[in-house]
Amino acid sequence: MKTKLMTGVLLLAALLLIGCSGGGEGDAQPAADQKTEVAATPAVYPALPVTEDEALLRCKAAAAALGSNLKTALKQAMQDGGPVAALEVCNVQAPAIAAAIDEREGITVGRTSLKWRNPDNAPDAWERGVLEKFAADKSGGASTLDLETWAVVPGPDGGRDFRYMKAIPTLSLCLKCHGADVAPDVAEKIRTLYPADHATGYGLGDLRGAFSVSIAMAEVGDGGD
Ligand code: HEC
Repeated sequence: MKTKLMTGVLLLAALLLIGCSGGGEGDAQPAADQKTEVAATPAVYPALPVTEDEALLRCKAAAAALGSNLKTALKQAMQDGGPVAALEVCNVQAPAIAAAIDEREGITVGRTSLKWRNPDNAPDAWERGVLEKFAADKSGGASTLDLETWAVVPGPDGGRDFRYMKAIPTLSLCLKCHGADVAPDVAEKIRTLYPADHATGYGLGDLRGAFSVSIAMAEVGDGGD
């Protein structure tokens, strides 16, 4: 891991040197060995965000993409077959839509909630803290649409992860499957698909949960560790 990271840093340094030198000086550095290595590992060039601003933009874009793709799929499924059929679609498509964005953006994006339906969406410790803070802010009068937060946290392998969360309000469309009086056939289907469901009983405007996004930060250019 460490060697790979070092190679990446060296490669980036090499690329920056090449990029800035403009050619011509040709001061004979003894870099013969490095040359072959650079040629052999072109894919190591990091596409990871270097600044927090860049990471934030990418996380916001991924959350927005997940939100709009899910809403489109949900509306279509409700129109086509009503809530019972749409439950099947959510069950399969919600994780698949998130996974497709992960792959395209090199990011991890999903949804979480203090009262989750799918146990795979249960919050980790950081997410739980943020969800509790969102709930407290909302009780204090904040609008759900304004609730978002981000932080840089230690990631695996000694790196840094940028994490972002944005609150999701309960709209009237959501009540058919998350509301206080869900139709009996819908409730039965939910029990079959999610025996441990906690995600009913919501009212219009309640905080339903949040988008949660994380991306590894590039380990370069922070002026010495
Ligand atoms: C057709 C039924 C249905 C409707 C309508 C519906 N949902 Fe869901 N919702 C589900 C299902 C099923 C899951 C579990 C998806 C999965 O397996 O990842 C879910 C999961 C979620 C989650 C992820 C956390 C968890 O509980 O697992 C959030 C957040 C969420 N829904 C918000 C909403 C919002 C907001 C709306 C309205 C815009 C909405 N849902 C409308 C069925 C529905």
